[in-house]
Amino acid sequence: MMMMRAAVGLWVLSAVICVGRGHHHLGHDDDQTVQDTVGDGSANSVSLVNEANKEFSFRLYRQLAADADSQGKNIFFSPASVSAALAALSVGAQGETHRQLFSGLGFNSSLLTQTDVDQAFQTLLQRANNTSQMDASEGTAVFVDDDFKPKPEFLQTLKQSYFADGFNVDFNKSTESADTINKYVKEKTNGKIDKLVEGLDQSTVMYLISYIYYKGKWETPFDHEFTKQDDFNVDENTKVPVTMMNMEERFHTYHDHVLNTTVLQLPFNSSYSMLLMLPDVMATLENRICPNHVTKWLKWMKSRTTDVYIPKFSIKTSYNLNDVLTEMGMTDMFGDRANLRGISEEQRLAVSDVVHKATLDVDETGATAAAATGIGITLMSFRHVPVLKFNRPFMVLIIERHTEKILFLGKIINPTI
Ligand SMILES: *[C@@H]1O[C@H](CO)[C@@H](O)[C@H](O)[C@H]1NC(C)=O
Ligand SMILES: *[C@@H]1O[C@H](CO)[C@@H](O)[C@H](O)[C@H]1NC(C)=O
Ligand SMILES: *[C@@H]1O[C@H](CO)[C@@H](O)[C@H](O)[C@H]1NC(C)=O
Ligand SMILES: *[C@@H]1O[C@H](CO)[C@@H](O)[C@H](O)[C@H]1NC(C)=O
Ligand SMILES: *[C@@H]1O[C@H](CO)[C@@H](O)[C@H](O)[C@H]1NC(C)=O
Ligand SMILES: *[C@@H]1O[C@H](CO)[C@@H](O)[C@H](O)[C@H]1NC(C)=O
Repeated sequence: MMMMRAAVGLWVLSAVICVGRGHHHLGHDDDQTVQDTVGDGSANSVSLVNEANKEFSFRLYRQLAADADSQGKNIFFSPASVSAALAALSVGAQGETHRQLFSGLGFNSSLLTQTDVDQAFQTLLQRANNTSQMDASEGTAVFVDDDFKPKPEFLQTLKQSYFADGFNVDFNKSTESADTINKYVKEKTNGKIDKLVEGLDQSTVMYLISYIYYKGKWETPFDHEFTKQDDFNVDENTKVPVTMMNMEERFHTYHDHVLNTTVLQLPFNSSYSMLLMLPDVMATLENRICPNHVTKWLKWMKSRTTDVYIPKFSIKTSYNLNDVLTEMGMTDMFGDRANLRGISEEQRLAVSDVVHKATLDVDETGATAAAATGIGITLMSFRHVPVLKFNRPFMVLIIERHTEKILFLGKIINPTI
């Protein structure tokens, strides 16, 4: 009889359905988002935006994981920072560009207007920055060229709903303006992200950034005495040495039989936790993980004494998100079809780059994570002239066009020798 009940229980727990964008989960949990839905209309949009942001996190993860540049590398980013930056950009987008941003972020336009989204971010950012929890901060900023006059309504919404700090800079001096942005981000991330912007496009007129910083102490710290050198198995054939922390304690864990993944919750000394997921097969987990799994794990985790080993590490990641966002359907903002008339009617604008950098440090006392997203906005007229600079090894051919007779053929690897 007991066996039967256990089996039935399992089946029910396993029936997690990963829904597409715009849907919200069934709400068995008693967290903040569900309480929001019983309130007025604006509380409902906070819940819708929150759900969309969660779905967006895993869609962006999968896109990044599939990207050729990510193969064999760690992946670490802040979905909260990326969605806040893109939502702030969508304030100034119109037409198809706006539709693509909304749908890419997972906002259902028959349920949410831009104003709903702005108000929801206002609530979410305020909550994230709650001063009673000094360990977390999140915010945005906008850097505007001295010669560029965005619509006042655009700046007003950014200030009011996204708490954007505003600065005037001279983008003609591209090194200085990049330094100004980098200095701001470095300060807001307590030195963790020190060079968000590597170089600025000559025709930049505006630069939007969002940052996030989190520093937490474990509720129960690891004892340095048990930290030992150990191996980490990168794959079947590769081992690398790591510094492994160890603690035997009561921990909340859950074994997900569908994803063949064991989940460990490491609580911080606050309302935050780190979830660590150890799958049998990484692809099974990363292809299928969705917000409903997280809800299920948090709900059904059980406290049991467990001997836990976690490596101490410090990682940094850096992404240009142009391709990834394009693959997620946000194409027009990058090209000559960009419609950013909510920022300026007179000037034709486009997004030049979306960059993202993140860091994560884990040790015996806790974890520190930081990230920033930057969106460069440029004048489109400049973008019509493609640049083709042969400043690296290239091949040459001298050919007769009609007969295609090849007169000369070569490769230039150093024009000075
Ligand atoms: C948007 O919401 C409407 C109304 O609830 C629903 O019919 C539609 O399927 C949703 N669209 C998407 C893309 O989820
Ligand atoms: C801030 O956090 C405190 C304690 O966690 C909570 O009581 C308060 O409601 C929070 N404020 C906001 C604006 O979320
Ligand atoms: C959050 O806190 C930081 C630093 O205290 C501040 O600069 C930023 O404007 C705040 N953001 C919000 C959304 O209140
Ligand atoms: C930037 O350069 C442009 C063209 O070179 C010029 O028209 C403009 O006045 C310059 N802006 C500033 C603030 O120096
Ligand atoms: C999970 O593991 C079991 C037993 O090892 C295996 O039979 C099953 O196919 C695995 N499921 C997935 C989705 O990998
Ligand atoms: C956790 O927080 C409580 C109250 O804020 C404090 O008394 C305690 O020392 C903290 N523990 C650690 C390990 O920082």
